Amino acid sequence: MQANSEPGQLTCRRADFDLPEDLVYLNSAYMGPLPRAVRDAGAAALARRAQPWQLGAADFFEPAERVRAQCATLVNGDAESIALVPTAAWGLGCVAAQIQARAGQNIVVLGEQFPSNIYAWQPLIAQGAHFRVVSAPNGEQRAARWNAALLEAIDADTVLVAMEQAHWTDGTLFDLTAVGRRAREVGAWFVIDATQTVGVMPLDVHAVQPDALVAHCYKSMLSNYGLGFAWYGPRMQQGRPTEQSWLLRQGAQDFARLVDYQDAYAPGMRRFDSSTRANPVLIGMLEAALDYMSGCGAARIRTYLSAISRAFVEGVRTRGWRVADESERAPNLFGLQAPKGTDLERVRTLLAGLQAPKGTDLERVRTLLAQRRIHVSVRGSVIRVSPHVYNTPNDFARLLDALGHL
Ligand SMILES: Cc1ncc(COP(=O)(O)O)c(C=O)c1O
Repeated sequence: MQANSEPGQLTCRRADFDLPEDLVYLNSAYMGPLPRAVRDAGAAALARRAQPWQLGAADFFEPAERVRAQCATLVNGDAESIALVPTAAWGLGCVAAQIQARAGQNIVVLGEQFPSNIYAWQPLIAQGAHFRVVSAPNGEQRAARWNAALLEAIDADTVLVAMEQAHWTDGTLFDLTAVGRRAREVGAWFVIDATQTVGVMPLDVHAVQPDALVAHCYKSMLSNYGLGFAWYGPRMQQGRPTEQSWLLRQGAQDFARLVDYQDAYAPGMRRFDSSTRANPVLIGMLEAALDYMSGCGAARIRTYLSAISRAFVEGVRTRGWRVADESERAPNLFGLQAPKGTDLERVRTLLAGLQAPKGTDLERVRTLLAQRRIHVSVRGSVIRVSPHVYNTPNDFARLLDALGHL
């Protein structure tokens, strides 16, 4: 494990990745590139998998237990409360299976929330609940007013509040502690999707007291697609899992006695694991990613990302793009919004006559940036910029320059 060197400043970690020199990758919110250490851990695990006589019964359990403990530290929780899940959708589905909604109850969600955290609740809709969508307000103090509207939307008829730590399209941060308090006041379930922020933003299940927090670890955590974790609170303790795998029952370690069928589940929240957590490639890569991120240090990553993007944010604002203040958004994920009627018009005019691909104006901007080897995403009505430890001030200078040429 790399030493957790939280004190001191983080310097650019580009050398740890396989990024072509001329490529500006500002798109970790789409998919994080793999640090070499994570890729190599995957390759080594694949080599062992090719020779299964190298894999023993312990390999189905011991790496998972180490990873469970490390995931717990990311959220200030304990390992017994962690389940290893293949996707955010899986982790959310396990929660949905434990909730019984009544007709007329509401489910509070954010406007344009990521779909896994909407579809998961369809069983509750079938029971008679309905979504109460809290959309982003326009104008000044957007984050503060969005947070306030969220708290106001939670009432005695709220069965569930399901949201993201930072909005996946533009990084708007939400006050999870305040929402948790309000949800507890009315007895609602409270579920957080931290897929975009885990490992970078502080998460503290003791302070926030959610019922569940899920994170798929292939974005901010820089691991492979297909494994993440869920932290589950006391309301999930006796819950029935959605997968009935042999691996999740008590005593599964004893391969000779697997047909002594067991009613009891494995202890803690292990019952909500997916059996894919025993895939040596996925678990090996997640363990390496946890080591890597812990070596970088969440606070140091935040400081680094703020520092390398500050001049860009100032520059892009002077060109009329809107960017939320640092205190209102995640440092690893933020949106650039062209104000209606002004710069969006300018972008349109500048694009007229160019051989621009089909799609929305912003989609055209994204494609034109990609032609300059600059990778960002378009989500909703914003260009989403999502830096990580391999980015440099020069990457942002190139984005600023490219936006200036549009
Ligand atoms: C906020 C958020 N949650 C979850 C996911 C991925 O969902 P799942 O793990 O269900 O595939 C994404 C992917 O973009 C996301 O942005």
